[in-house]
Amino acid sequence: MTREVPEAATGPAAAGLFITLEGGDGCGKTTQSELLTDWLQQCGRTVLRTREPGGTDVGGAIREIVLHHRGEIAPRAEALLYAADRAQHIATAVRPALARGEVVIQDRYLDSSVAYQGAGRVLDATAVRDLSLWAAEGLLPALTVLLDLDETVARGRLDAENKPFDRLEAEKSDFHRRVRAAFLALADAEPERILVVDAGRPVAEIAAVIRDRVAALL
Ligand code: TYD
Repeated sequence: MTREVPEAATGPAAAGLFITLEGGDGCGKTTQSELLTDWLQQCGRTVLRTREPGGTDVGGAIREIVLHHRGEIAPRAEALLYAADRAQHIATAVRPALARGEVVIQDRYLDSSVAYQGAGRVLDATAVRDLSLWAAEGLLPALTVLLDLDETVARGRLDAENKPFDRLEAEKSDFHRRVRAAFLALADAEPERILVVDAGRPVAEIAAVIRDRVAALL
């Protein structure tokens, strides 16, 4: 099934280039977004490298709640917190950068909400997606790179980092299996937007695949 691109995605914000990276925890998004940013800067582009949750002052406060709050957060409250972070981030950081003609490289966006809150927390995926689109006034990326990795391999990588798990990372393997399956289903539904890359490949190879695809958009 191919989805329609909301009109707002092709509005004034489309002057720059909006690229998102997605995938489960431990898939290597941060490394790849750093490498892509370096390469784009070497090509002479101005890049805003940013992330959700976070990326603004308000988002930083929301990030602290969604990742580190100790008590229970109801699934719908969690979905709304991510959506609130997104609304602030897109309105005050991403759209202005795109309007200036910059390239925005963003770790996580609405596909994370559909995968984590939709499939992970078992909320209605369409409702979660629509909530995000409302929050972001319809903005969709020109390209989304999905770094796909078996959740047990990803868990091994996180264990090796030896850092305390946040609220989402601490979820059971079944949760992460559902998240991965949801990401892959999204890629099936929107093959022209979402590029799936095997995150088990060497870092340099993954970076080259991403660069090739981005080069075609510049
Ligand atoms: P991330 O910043 O990738 O974590 P880290 O800095 O530890 O690598 O993402 C934080 C967590 O938030 C991650 O587990 C995925 C989750 N998340 C959602 O559940 N929904 C969302 O909409 C977003 C953007 C992230």
